[in-house]
Amino acid sequence: MQAQLNKILEEVKEQLKNAETLAQTDEIRVKTLGKKGRLTEILRGMGKLPAEERKETGQMANKVRGAIEQLLEEKFAAVKAAAKEAQFKAEKIDVTEPGRDTIVGVKHPLTITMEEISRIFMNMGFSIVEGPEVETVFNNFDALNAGPNHPARDMTDTFYITEDVLLRTQTSPVQVRTLMKQDPPIKVISPGRCFRCDTPDATHSPMFHQIEGLLVDEGITMADLKGTLDSFAKQLFGTSTRTKFRPHHFPFTEPSAEMDVSCFKCGGKGCRVCKGSGWIEILGCGMVHPNVLKVGNIDTEKYTGFAFGMGVERAAMLKYGVDDIRLFYENDMRFINQFK
Ligand code: DAH
Repeated sequence: MQAQLNKILEEVKEQLKNAETLAQTDEIRVKTLGKKGRLTEILRGMGKLPAEERKETGQMANKVRGAIEQLLEEKFAAVKAAAKEAQFKAEKIDVTEPGRDTIVGVKHPLTITMEEISRIFMNMGFSIVEGPEVETVFNNFDALNAGPNHPARDMTDTFYITEDVLLRTQTSPVQVRTLMKQDPPIKVISPGRCFRCDTPDATHSPMFHQIEGLLVDEGITMADLKGTLDSFAKQLFGTSTRTKFRPHHFPFTEPSAEMDVSCFKCGGKGCRVCKGSGWIEILGCGMVHPNVLKVGNIDTEKYTGFAFGMGVERAAMLKYGVDDIRLFYENDMRFINQFK
């Protein structure tokens, strides 16, 4: 029996050497000291021993139990410490590791251009108004003095939704909405999206952006128009920029003009950007036609005004040297990220 006790002790030592987890250690405890454990069974059988053997064996059994308990206690402590160590290792943070980069969005070049142009006019006292992209035929054409037979009304140019409703082909209908809503003095700009039934190519897109301007007050003349737009051009393209107004035709202005700016690339000598002419066309403008003012019930004897409209894509292409309008709509981040 004493040999058996020693054997149990040795075996438990061996088993504990291989135990790695709390569960494994506890299994050894149960198998040895549990209710049906090997040592427990022996201790229980002690009563059957002859009296002279009982004392010595009993002492030894108690010693072995004490030793096993001690071993188990040490092992439990070691396993717990190892588990904690492993947890620390797993949760370790390397504070010297470089941080993960967050990708921050950038403004689209058209937004940048629109904001820059808007800011220039806002600094001159213009406020921003907006109009809907789905417009009435009346606001887009009739009220702008473009009667039923005007070529711009042709089905090939305009996206019609119904006979009376369309996708606006220009931001000019915002002039009509403003004149109907507001009394002079009026001093507004209106940036926004426009639509024309064009086949896309390097300079055409069925969807594009314009910025419209409208100023109505007493005593407004062509000199105000020229002064305002010349100042705008100098702020957008640089102080040495010169402007030139060429006679043109728009149904909603009389007289009408197109404004050219001296080429900011070559300064007017002639280059690829200005196609050798030294000048670049930048916007349409004119004195608001009395027929348009009348739509807003404005006294045309008392008030006059000027208006202008420009393409945002064209301005952005010139400013940034972009040679294909389609690049603006492809969402290719290699293109967009260049305007950071
Ligand atoms: N709406 C015109 C266009 O799309 C641009 C324009 C020209 C607007 C002259 C104006 C203006 O307000 O006075 O071509």
